[in-house]
Amino acid sequence: MRFSRTLVAGSLASAAIAAPASPTATSAKDVYAAQATALTRSPTSHVKGKVFDRYVSIWFENTDFDMAAADPNFQYFAKKGITLSNNFALTHPSEPNYMAAVGGDYLGLDGDPFVSVPGNVSSVVDLLEDKGISWGMYQEDMPYSGFEGSGWVNQKNGANDYVRKHNPEIMYTSVVNNKDRAAQVKNLTMFYEDLKKDKLPQWMFVTPNMTSDGHDSSVTVAGVWLKTFLAPLLKDKNFMKNTLVMITFDENETYSTQNRVFSVLVGDAVPKELVGTTDSNYYNHYSEISTVEANWDLFTLGRWDVGANVFANVAKHTDDRLRKWTGSDFNTRYFNYSYPGIFNSKKGKWAPQPVPDVHSNRSGRTTLPAIKKTWEKEQPKNYYHGQLEIPDGYNPPVYPYKY
Ligand SMILES: *[C@@H]1O[C@H](CO)[C@@H](O)[C@H](O)[C@H]1NC(C)=O
Ligand SMILES: *[C@@H]1O[C@H](CO)[C@@H](O)[C@H](O)[C@H]1NC(C)=O
Ligand SMILES: *[C@@H]1O[C@H](CO)[C@@H](O)[C@H](O)[C@H]1NC(C)=O
Ligand SMILES: *[C@@H]1O[C@H](CO)[C@@H](O)[C@H](O)[C@H]1NC(C)=O
Ligand SMILES: *[C@@H]1O[C@H](CO)[C@@H](O)[C@H](O)[C@H]1NC(C)=O
Ligand SMILES: *[C@@H]1O[C@H](CO)[C@@H](O)[C@H](O)[C@H]1NC(C)=O
Repeated sequence: MRFSRTLVAGSLASAAIAAPASPTATSAKDVYAAQATALTRSPTSHVKGKVFDRYVSIWFENTDFDMAAADPNFQYFAKKGITLSNNFALTHPSEPNYMAAVGGDYLGLDGDPFVSVPGNVSSVVDLLEDKGISWGMYQEDMPYSGFEGSGWVNQKNGANDYVRKHNPEIMYTSVVNNKDRAAQVKNLTMFYEDLKKDKLPQWMFVTPNMTSDGHDSSVTVAGVWLKTFLAPLLKDKNFMKNTLVMITFDENETYSTQNRVFSVLVGDAVPKELVGTTDSNYYNHYSEISTVEANWDLFTLGRWDVGANVFANVAKHTDDRLRKWTGSDFNTRYFNYSYPGIFNSKKGKWAPQPVPDVHSNRSGRTTLPAIKKTWEKEQPKNYYHGQLEIPDGYNPPVYPYKY
């Protein structure tokens, strides 16, 4: 069994989590056989954005804000861009943060198990494809494009290398069940090939391996990796094409303090006057989706993306009002636990699959028509974050859902 049915309880549970197509317990031999024939795709596009024409998100692991801010290599990039001093993770541990950063929710997930997001839940790639914007995932040491296993270790020393829990799009059934999409979930070998051939996509997500991202190592190792990877790219004309790079961490290491993560925006889409500055507006991982939506005037997912603040350097050009956290509860929100949902492991924390807001309208950006079509009939039943019956322990990942 790849995952335990006891992870969820309730009538929708078995329907919501269908067994994924390929087994995780594959032998190295099987992996190499599949590697030889795996489909890989590198579509490109040139859709002008309001502020940037390419968005690159690079995620590191489990580091407290102050630790990252003190590292000389992270400081090197801070000096070249905008430091986000109030960017928050959503919960602990890793996987829900990654899942949510592309899909606008983590559906109650409170661990790192093998889960598959139901096929009727969309993610940012649906919004991008709708506007003809190319995308790609680049996961260091993923053995081949579209690999669905839970992980892959270094074949020489057995150390953790690639892990599925840090690869958000592979968790979405709407991605893995489409072979063209799965073929765009690639490794860093492919990144360098795409770079060389000038075939990098307009939206990409980069996950270093378990050593490079700081998970099994330290912020020092992560910083050195980042400098080695990104510094040359900032001078590469195949990479720098009005590009905005988001450097961030999935979560803060200390569960009992607020889950603030160190994040920096760099690239040639950062105007000179903002280089070396700090933006102290409130953001969280959903701001990555809302910023991309604002930049390319995409539809929304109708989930937590709708209400999330757009990064100020982009919002200035997209008519997006930046909301302040006005509640006195700011300092008591730790973002260190999950809420009920189909993936929640705790007894009594099961809740139905939430229905997206099919009538969202954020500065004129409305819910993707395909999402509307799928979910319209379900509304207002289980209305998304309409919170008909909110069980104990509900901790909204963003401030109250108004936009
Ligand atoms: C979405 O998919 C889940 C899991 O397959 C299913 O239980 C649910 O009824 C579906 N909802 C809609 C509106 O398609
Ligand atoms: C990366 O993926 C490609 C395409 O599937 C594959 O051919 C290659 O062997 C992989 N590289 C590594 C280092 O696993
Ligand atoms: C992780 O990536 C680095 C280079 O980026 C490489 O040296 C290392 O062998 C990889 N795997 C492990 C388990 O460290
Ligand atoms: C979250 O942080 C608060 C404040 O430090 C702490 O009381 C609580 O136990 C933490 N919750 C979890 C699940 O770690
Ligand atoms: C985690 O983030 C908080 C900010 O909310 C920060 O004050 C704290 O330093 C971080 N944790 C630790 C132990 O540094
Ligand atoms: C969405 O809101 C904008 C104002 O921000 C308005 O002009 C537009 O008509 C609304 N669209 C829909 C479909 O309601």
